Amino acid sequence: MKKSIVKDLSLADKGKLKIEWAENFMPILEAIKRRFEMERPFKGVKVGMALHLEAKTAALVKTFVSGGAQVAITSCNPETTQDDVAAALTEYANVYAWRGETEDEYYENIERVLDYEPNIVIDDGADLIVHLHKRKEELMNNVYGGCEETTTGVTRLRNMEREGKLMFPVIAVNEAKMKYMFDNRYGTGESTLFGLLNATNLTLAGKTVAVAGYGWCGRGIALRARGMGSKVIVCEVDPVKAVEAHMDGFRVMKLIEAVKEADIVITSTGITKVVRGEHFRAAKDKCIFANAGHFNVEIWIPDLEKIAVDKKKTRYFGLPYNQYLVEEYTLNDKRKIFILGKGRLVNLVCGQGHATEVMDLSFSLQAKSAEYILKKRGALKPGVYTVPEEIDREVARLKLKTLKISIDELTEEQLRYREGYLQGT
Ligand SMILES: NC(=O)c1ccc[n+]([C@@H]2O[C@H](COP(=O)([O-])OP(=O)(O)OC[C@H]3O[C@@H](n4cnc5c(N)ncnc54)[C@H](O)[C@@H]3O)[C@@H](O)[C@H]2O)c1
Repeated sequence: MKKSIVKDLSLADKGKLKIEWAENFMPILEAIKRRFEMERPFKGVKVGMALHLEAKTAALVKTFVSGGAQVAITSCNPETTQDDVAAALTEYANVYAWRGETEDEYYENIERVLDYEPNIVIDDGADLIVHLHKRKEELMNNVYGGCEETTTGVTRLRNMEREGKLMFPVIAVNEAKMKYMFDNRYGTGESTLFGLLNATNLTLAGKTVAVAGYGWCGRGIALRARGMGSKVIVCEVDPVKAVEAHMDGFRVMKLIEAVKEADIVITSTGITKVVRGEHFRAAKDKCIFANAGHFNVEIWIPDLEKIAVDKKKTRYFGLPYNQYLVEEYTLNDKRKIFILGKGRLVNLVCGQGHATEVMDLSFSLQAKSAEYILKKRGALKPGVYTVPEEIDREVARLKLKTLKISIDELTEEQLRYREGYLQGT
């Protein structure tokens, strides 16, 4: 047993079953794990991780451990740890995480992972990497490189790179096609709706759902909400994406107009204060607000706190949440506004994260990208790198193999045609 700090070790048996369940449906990661067991590429390597700590993440931790790594892990969000999974994971790694961490506890746990002196850092949202650069500079020399999971994290790291402040290479796992086309789009689409349905016990059929942000996540949320029978409105700031949403058959309008008719508003922009005072004031009675973007800044709750005359928590759930999933605010004209999961990632706080098969893709990319960092140790300059094309395509090929799908290949003639020799003849 490693030295860990979790909520309750007696939950380990329940967590173990959840991890086993996930592993049943992660065949690509399983294949990588089996290879790692034989090759032990991470022997003697310390991996520090900050990822939403739930069952699929545990499968990734076990993959690194099988490859010889020593792992320390915390969550990348104070509200997304599943305490039973965290307890079970202590058998394999140093775990510092529990659901409902205060802001201070969250950063203390990040520091515990950094104090483990990792050689490779695996991040989601870049808090671990930013904290390392700002507060633990003395540990930087241990680090060969890192991997970043999400859009917001990559944006932060690219800003650091531009300012010359990023001190090691980081692979932007989010930018692999096998990541954003499936995880951000279908993963977020499905799991956001699951979180919403779970937290509210309401139907989506016939409801008007406004989706702010029509990027990879927003497209998935809009698509799946329409599939569940909702009337979907898209709100965007990018004219191209707005035209795309229109062509995809959605109504497009300003958020201030959309909130007047929306039953549910979902944000997924990566930008702050998308929903703010003016939107709360214009919202329909009993409007439900949920956020699927990385940070809890998209729905600006301080504005709501200012205008609300009453507030209470409701919809208590036991494991894996052990918390109230909805906050009910009453305004002075008696209208109610509901906020799901304190405005944090609704699919993780009120749901169970992305579907397992989706995370099989994302975490296979993580495992292979971390191995790439290891192989390229010393050869990559500090900066943000896209996932090498061969890794992306290999994960796609493995996925097809697990699905028992065969696809055509270009003939020699077609290859030559593509290369330009025969064009026009
Ligand atoms: N919930 C999850 O599990 C999950 C999964 C992947 C990514 N994310 C996070 O979701 C967020 C979005 O990710 P993405 O990959 O879709 O990014 P993206 O860049 O593809 O899309 C974001 C979209 O939001 C739009 N936008 C920005 N500000 C806006 C505003 N004020 N109003 C309306 N639209 C606005 C942008 O124009 C863009 O089209 C990020 O924070 C990302 O880290 C969450």
